[in-house]
Amino acid sequence: MLEKKMEEALNKQINEEMFSAYLYLSMSAYFDSIGLKGFANWMMIQYKEETDHAMKIYNYLISQGADIYLYSIKEPAHQWESPLKAFEETLKHEQHITQCINDLVDLAEDIKDRATYNFLQWFIDEQVEEEENDREIIEKLKLVENNKSGLFMLDKDLSLRKYSPLITEGN
Ligand code: FEO
Repeated sequence: MLEKKMEEALNKQINEEMFSAYLYLSMSAYFDSIGLKGFANWMMIQYKEETDHAMKIYNYLISQGADIYLYSIKEPAHQWESPLKAFEETLKHEQHITQCINDLVDLAEDIKDRATYNFLQWFIDEQVEEEENDREIIEKLKLVENNKSGLFMLDKDLSLRKYSPLITEGN
């Protein structure tokens, strides 16, 4: 059984994860529109992973007998100035999500909610990986700046990313 403030905070996090999914789906469409299919693939997988993150929290709330509140999802941007600007926004957004997760962990600690504290550890590790991936792509984008063949090589690399569904049921 969760305390009400933890139930509310986790429901808000579902919304944060769903907005992340929307943002990356919009970026996937943007990359498609400028002919970078590999980048579009990378962002489409990111979209699916964010939906999985939302569902992981949803399933946790259900397993705790908590109520679910599906808040409105904000409209993301539709265009970016360049691939680099899109990835810089991605990193900034993930840093925001890391802060949200850290706040949830602090709340779990404050109210001595051990189950939620344990549940959140997966998200802490995931955020380290997400920020690292974004930073790597930003560095590569800076290296290939104004070099079309470098950008297409990077696009080819990103086309290789594969989606592995997260098993969320009961988690
Ligand atoms: Fe679900 Fe990208 O954090």
